[in-house]
Amino acid sequence: MRADARRPGPILEFRPWGERDLDALCEIERRTFPLPWTRDQFRDLISHPAGFGWVAARADGRAVGYAVGWVAADEAELADLAVSEEYRDQGIGAVLVRSFAREAGVRGARRLYLEVRVSNEGAQRFYGRLGFGVVGRRTAYYRNPREDALAMAADLPLSG
Ligand SMILES: CC(C)(COP(=O)(O)OP(=O)(O)OC[C@H]1O[C@@H](n2cnc3c(N)ncnc32)[C@H](O)[C@@H]1OP(=O)(O)O)[C@@H](O)C(=O)NCCC(=O)NCCS
Repeated sequence: MRADARRPGPILEFRPWGERDLDALCEIERRTFPLPWTRDQFRDLISHPAGFGWVAARADGRAVGYAVGWVAADEAELADLAVSEEYRDQGIGAVLVRSFAREAGVRGARRLYLEVRVSNEGAQRFYGRLGFGVVGRRTAYYRNPREDALAMAADLPLSG
């Protein structure tokens, strides 16, 4: 029987990101967010010594999810996280956050921060389960549509 080409293939590995992931990340980004990161934003972060990221990749090497950000002194920022829609709800997002948090700790961070749209309650619950708590609210942090952000943070290493 012929395999259904539209069926998502299995995840082969979680690995640090690199230039070869730019096409996949930009595509997922455009499909996921109203104000997607640009290729230049990703490239700047890849080439910055404080920047790092993790991807979930299929057997053919293509990334289907990513968690990226940076460390500054003893604080880390998870700046961007997404999983391609057909791969959601399989635990990939949680592994990406944990992988990112582990590397942040190795790089000297003791606390991990992120921002999330006030309306994105699903993501807030997802982060809550990973040990993040709300630490503040940033007015009109997002554009398109304009919206406040909740700032969330967790101590490193993440519990659990
Ligand atoms: C957030 C995200 C990365 C989670 O990835 P994932 O691989 O599906 O994560 P997991 O499988 O580990 O966990 C999924 C859980 O999070 C919940 N969840 C996460 N985001 C959600 C959302 N926007 N709406 C509803 N539920 C959401 C799922 O319902 C699921 O809950 P369950 O375990 O009780 O069923 C993914 O949903 C995504 O890319 N969302 C769009 C982009 C986004 O919102 N990014 C975060 C911005 S700060």
